[in-house]
Amino acid sequence: MMMKKLLSVIALTLACVTAQAAGSDFPLEKAPNRLTNQAALQNGAKMFVNYCLNCHAAKSMRYNKLRDIGLTDTQIKENLLFTGEKVGDLMKIAMTSADAKAWFGAPPPDLSVIARAKSINAGPPGGDYIYTYMRTFYRDTTKPTGWNNLAFPNAGMPHVLWERQGPREYTHVVVHQVEKDGKKSWERATSVYGPQGYWTTKTEPMVDYTGKETSGHGFKALDPVRAMAYDSEIADLAAFMTWMSEPAQLLRKQIGVWVLLFLGIFFIVAWRLNASYWKHIK
Ligand code: HEC
Repeated sequence: MMMKKLLSVIALTLACVTAQAAGSDFPLEKAPNRLTNQAALQNGAKMFVNYCLNCHAAKSMRYNKLRDIGLTDTQIKENLLFTGEKVGDLMKIAMTSADAKAWFGAPPPDLSVIARAKSINAGPPGGDYIYTYMRTFYRDTTKPTGWNNLAFPNAGMPHVLWERQGPREYTHVVVHQVEKDGKKSWERATSVYGPQGYWTTKTEPMVDYTGKETSGHGFKALDPVRAMAYDSEIADLAAFMTWMSEPAQLLRKQIGVWVLLFLGIFFIVAWRLNASYWKHIK
């Protein structure tokens, strides 16, 4: 009876995990772990305040919390405050939600805890989503913003960092079945989106193909040096946003190590003490 119950709980848990994974079918790339790298976190904070905070707010964050990643009040004041805010202020913005909705079709969400929100229980770290999202924009002239995104198809957000990433070519390959005059056959369609968003599609028949439908994506950086520097900047940004979603996590992990160390030593003491208590009792 007990066993059966346990098995059904395990089965249910597995079902939930697979259902969540199916929610976003684009595979996320692993963000480099820079959570303990203060220079990276500081650069991420600079990127965030400069490029994201004009549309998105981060209302759970105060500027002076950035002291925790090693910035001084003077540094915060001189480099990160532009419109008369004080270091103790929350990261709010002037744009109203209604205006934003009218301009972009969807209001930019508050980003304070987006990294945590994106890391669904047992899912990949939320930083991976940000790292992938910010690196999979491609030009698409059919969209109102002129941009589309792989991790978030039809996103209402334009690629605000396109100049930093540099021009790229995006290739999308689909293998699918077509029906012509009642006869089914397979073909491969290769679409190439150039840096200006115009695309060409080439279709080729696939003789003797008996597999299933597949699709694949690829980017080619036309300015590889800029693209590589951009990847690193986005790794910093993703690290900062992961830190921001739970500023106590570094301290929590440090404390965790000490607690485990203490328990380890305490175990040895308790074990020896126990042996000595029972030494004369047979
Ligand atoms: C020009 C305004 C604008 C700027 C600047 C901007 N965003 Fe956005 N962002 C939006 C809008 C609008 C949405 C909502 C899109 C939608 O729901 O279709 C959004 C959504 C998002 C989302 C949520 C995606 C999702 O899956 O729900 C993330 C994450 C995000 N932005 C990150 C950033 C980061 C990081 C920056 C800074 C590099 C940034 N944004 C800068 C307008 C902006």
